[in-house]
Amino acid sequence: MNTFGEDEGDLPVSLTLAVEEHIEEQISLCSSLEKIADSLPEDFDPRMCMLAAKSIYPVFKGAHDFEENVLFPYLAKKDGDRETLQQIFDRLHAEHWEDESFGEEVSEALIDLVNGEQDNPEKLGYMLRGFFEGVKRHIAFEREHLLPLISK
Ligand SMILES: [Fe+2]
Repeated sequence: MNTFGEDEGDLPVSLTLAVEEHIEEQISLCSSLEKIADSLPEDFDPRMCMLAAKSIYPVFKGAHDFEENVLFPYLAKKDGDRETLQQIFDRLHAEHWEDESFGEEVSEALIDLVNGEQDNPEKLGYMLRGFFEGVKRHIAFEREHLLPLISK
């Protein structure tokens, strides 16, 4: 608690920093996935693939849980256009669900690649690009429509 009787964790600046940290983690993972996609079919680094495969779930689930359990409720309590906000939450929630499900497929495909069980590396390349490009669009939308609302 600070002198205003607010929980420090809920201060706009702390929230913005926490959101930015989650975004950085996701973007960094997207960069690894892009490097892997560029290295296919033969020049991939198995260690990088395994690390990325194991990071997908915790990184994205952590970011999504933070947004849905901390950020969305914080924004919902503020004054604003509730209908628009609800539309934004619904869209982001659906995208989180899609990314988690797609992310699981990507992880499995990367593990198959490392284990020599990936018989279509070209398809994996498309899959990786489809995944990280979708994540980047999602994050761009959040940066444009959600982050400015924190300090409003
Ligand atoms: Fe999100």
